Amino acid sequence: MAKSPWVRPMFDAIAPRYDTLNRLMSLGMDRGWRRRAVARALEDRPATILDAGAGTLDLSLEAWRSSAHSPRIIALDFAGEMLAHGMPRVRRAGADVAAVQGDALRLPLASGSVDAIVSAFLPRNLDSLPRAWRSFARVLRPGGVLVILEMAPVRTPVFRRLFRLYFHRWIPWMGRRISGHGAAYTWLPESVDDFPTAQELADQIEAAGFVDVRFRKHGLGAVAIHWARRS
Ligand SMILES: C[S@@+](CC[C@H](N)C(=O)[O-])C[C@H]1O[C@@H](n2cnc3c(N)ncnc32)[C@H](O)[C@@H]1O
Repeated sequence: MAKSPWVRPMFDAIAPRYDTLNRLMSLGMDRGWRRRAVARALEDRPATILDAGAGTLDLSLEAWRSSAHSPRIIALDFAGEMLAHGMPRVRRAGADVAAVQGDALRLPLASGSVDAIVSAFLPRNLDSLPRAWRSFARVLRPGGVLVILEMAPVRTPVFRRLFRLYFHRWIPWMGRRISGHGAAYTWLPESVDDFPTAQELADQIEAAGFVDVRFRKHGLGAVAIHWARRS
């Protein structure tokens, strides 16, 4: 079943409280994960960076602040409200970030026009992962870098029980209280349960034609950063 018809309005609805909830749910750790992900993408000093599923532009801003060479950043998301909530911070930072409303599975960008793609917490929300890898491979130039920051299902027995409690009880309760949108924060744990493991995701990315695929886990294994090169 297609997720996008309800995922998009859901993110539009939670946009005003999204940043606050992100910080609370990750206990502030998401900042460090974003910094690490962006550092991988900046290694080759990419001139053009695509932030796919940019939301309220946290990753775009991190890329701008962490780079010493003023890259051009294209921040793409299909939820206009998410982008709109991030834009004031971009303006205050004077960052070269162009917000584009569009679909990550049908990127409105020329083939080979991007030097690096960064993406945080997007894949769980997509209708099709294989289509996403194809879409990313098309717009990345050969040798360009793909970096994905995403949750990973925790399989270790002890942590698994702990995370189930945290994800399935605490997060929906907190999300409902703060955003007033219970469904969005029930969707979050469900989408993690159904998501491939970090190794499975690496295998998918490799099967889609990327090379040098690597990943590292963070947050007791609840989060993974994957990075790879377009062949
Ligand atoms: C969990 S949020 C992550 C936002 C941001 N990257 C961050 O790290 O905070 C997922 C974002 O992906 C966007 N999204 C989901 N499916 C998409 C698609 N097919 N095309 C573009 N954006 C999409 C949603 O609108 C939402 O803003």
